[in-house]
Amino acid sequence: MEREVIIKKYNLKIEELNEHNKLYYDKNNPKLTDSEYDKLKKVILNLEKKYNFLDHEKSPSKNVGYKPSKSFEKYAHKVMMLSLSNAFDKKDLINFEKKIFNYLNTKIKFDYSVEPKIDGISASLTYIDKKLKVGVSRGDGKIGEVITENLKTISDIPIIIKNDSFPDEIEIRGEVFIKKKDFLKIKKNFANPRNAASGSLRQKDPKETKKIALNFIAYTYGNIKNNKFKLQSDFLRELSKWGFKTNKHNTVLSNIDDLIKFHKDFEKKRFNLDYDVDGLVYKINSLSLQKRLGFTSNSPRWAIAHKFLADRATTKVLKIDIQVGRTGALTPVAKVEPVNIGGVVVSNATLHNEDEIKRKDIRVGDEVTIERAGDVIPHVIDVDKTKRGKNSQVFIFPKKCPSCGSNTIKEFNKITKKYDAVRRCLNESFICERIAIEKLKHFISKEALNIDGLGKKVIEKFWELNFIKYPQDIFKLDYDKIKHLDGWGNLSARNLKNSIEKSKTTSLQKFIYSLGIRHIGIENAKIISENIKNISSLIKIIKLKKFERFLNIDGIGETQVNSLNNFFSNNINIKIVIELASILNLENQRFNKSGKLKDKSFMFTGKLSGISRAEAKSLIEKNSGITLTNVSKNLNYLVIGENPTKRKVDQAISYGIKVIKLDELNKLLD
Ligand code: IVH
Repeated sequence: MEREVIIKKYNLKIEELNEHNKLYYDKNNPKLTDSEYDKLKKVILNLEKKYNFLDHEKSPSKNVGYKPSKSFEKYAHKVMMLSLSNAFDKKDLINFEKKIFNYLNTKIKFDYSVEPKIDGISASLTYIDKKLKVGVSRGDGKIGEVITENLKTISDIPIIIKNDSFPDEIEIRGEVFIKKKDFLKIKKNFANPRNAASGSLRQKDPKETKKIALNFIAYTYGNIKNNKFKLQSDFLRELSKWGFKTNKHNTVLSNIDDLIKFHKDFEKKRFNLDYDVDGLVYKINSLSLQKRLGFTSNSPRWAIAHKFLADRATTKVLKIDIQVGRTGALTPVAKVEPVNIGGVVVSNATLHNEDEIKRKDIRVGDEVTIERAGDVIPHVIDVDKTKRGKNSQVFIFPKKCPSCGSNTIKEFNKITKKYDAVRRCLNESFICERIAIEKLKHFISKEALNIDGLGKKVIEKFWELNFIKYPQDIFKLDYDKIKHLDGWGNLSARNLKNSIEKSKTTSLQKFIYSLGIRHIGIENAKIISENIKNISSLIKIIKLKKFERFLNIDGIGETQVNSLNNFFSNNINIKIVIELASILNLENQRFNKSGKLKDKSFMFTGKLSGISRAEAKSLIEKNSGITLTNVSKNLNYLVIGENPTKRKVDQAISYGIKVIKLDELNKLLD
C-alpha cells in the first residue's frame, strides 16, 4: 500500500472509533458490541505497529477513551428502585394473580390502578419540609446518581410545594421523558426519545439539560414518613393536588377481562399520544395489600407491566457464532446485517440453543425476522424459507467446545426424562479459556465482588497478558506493569488498586455467589450464607463434601446440592475458595442483623390459617430469622398449623425444640 493510502485509511479508522466513543459515552447509545469495538481498536493499533510513521493525537494508544460527561455523585436509595416483571397476554395476567393468591393463601378480590408505562428514565425526588432537596437517577436500583440541578430545570418538577397536606418528608418517583415532537428536532443526535432524555439528564452543565425540553410525570413514592394513604389512586390524585403532573389516562379497573379490553384500546390509541408508551402498568390499588405482598429479589409481587407488541424487522443472517458461557453453555448467536429496530441498531440476535436452531432450521444466508422487546436480547422469531438460495446448507452445531476443544454434552434431566436443549462444555476447571474468562467476569460483576474499574474489557485484556488466570490472581496484580500499559498510567493503576483493596471486604453471600456455581444464584447464595456460621464452616463442609445438610434449607434442592458436589469435585475450585478465604474479609450479614428473630430458626408443619407458607417465611426473614425444612438440633421453633405431621412434632419434642402455634409466632413478632 502506498504511504498516503495507509495514512488515509488510518485516519478514517480513528475518526470512526471516536464517533463510537461519542455514541457510547455522550449519547448513551452504543452501536457496536464490545468485541466489535475492540476489533476496531485493534485494527488501528496493528496499523501503528506495522507502519511507524502513523501517529494521531486521538489514537487509542494515547487515550484511555472519550471522557464521559461527568461522574456524578453517588446516592444510595433509601428504598430500592426495582423494575417490573412483564406480561404479554391474558395467560401471563392469570398467572400473576395466581401467584398473589398462592402467596396470600386465599382468593380475594382487588382493584388495579392502571397507568400508562411511559418509556423514559425514572427519577426520584426527595422533598424535606416541602422543598426539593435531592434528585437522583435510578442507577442500578440500589445506587443512583445525584442529578438534582439537572432535574430542577424541568418545569414539571415543583421545587417548593405550597400545599398544607404535603408530607414533611417524602420521596416522589416518576418518569422523565421527551415528547415525540421535541424529539423530531434533535433526531439526528439520538437513536430514540428515551436515549435523548437520558443523555440530556446526564449533562455536566444543567444549562445543557435545559436545551432539551424534558417532562416529568409522577406515579409513586419511595421513602415516606408517616404514610397515611390507603389507595394508589388516592395517592395519584393527591400528587396532582400538590402540583405534580400525573397521567390523565390513569384509571382503576377490577378484573383481568377489563384490563385486557383497556389494553387493546390503548394499544391503538398510543400512536396518537405525544410521548412513547411501551405498555400499561397494573398495580394493586390497596397500599396495605401492596405492603403485605412485598417484593421478590427484583420486582414487586403487587404490580406488573403489560407490554405492547414488540418491534420487529427482517434482515439477513451473515454468520452463526457459538459463544461459551460461564457455565459452559454453548449459545449460538446470529450475526446479522445491521438493522434498525425501534431506534436501536441490531447486529446480533440470540438463537438460544442447539435445539432452537434445529427446530426453526435457521441457516447462514437466511432472511429472518428479529424481535426486540424492551431490554431483552434481540432474538430470531421466524425464517422466510421461500427466500432461500439453492446452495443453502443446514447449520451443523459443533460437538466440540469451540474454546477448549473438549467434548460437549446435553445433560439428561431425570425429572422431565428429556435431554437438555442446551449443549455444554463440562470443563469445570479453569482450562477452558472462555469459561475461565466468563467466570472471572462474573467474579468481579456488580452483584458479586463489584470491583470498580475492573470491567469486562479489562478482564479480557489481563487474561490475554497472562496477568490473571484464577480469581485470586486479581489480588496479586503487579501495578508497575499495569501502569505502563496502553491507556493506563499512574492514576488509573492506583485507582484500580484502591478499588480492588476495597472489594476485599464483602459479605459471605456475595462471595458464594461470586464463585459462579451453576444453580447458585443470588437468592440461593443468600440462603446458604444464612445457614452457615462463617467461611471456615463453609470450607469444612466443602472439604467433607457435606452438601446434603443444605437440603434442610427451604429453597435448596437436589439440583443445587448436585451442582455443589460437582463444582467441588474439582480440586482447583477448592483451592480457589481456600486461597480467597485467606485474602478476603468476609462478613456474614445474618449476624449483623438486628431483627426480633435474630439467630432463631423456624420450621412449619401443618396448614397455617390466614397466611401462606411463603408469606410466613418472608415475615420471619424480615425479622432476621431463618426457616428450615427438617427437624434438626439447629432448629429453635417448630410452628404447627392444622394437622401437623406427628413424626415431626415428636422428633422436635425429643430434641427439646419449642413447639408453638401461629399466634405464638405473632407474639414473638409483637
Ligand atoms: S412503578 C417497583 N409506575 O417502568 C415499581 N413505573 O419496569 C416500579 N414506569 O423503572 C415503578 N411508568 O421507569 C411505575 N406508572 C408507572 C410507570 C413506571 C413507567 C417505568 C419506570 C420503572 C419501570 C419498571
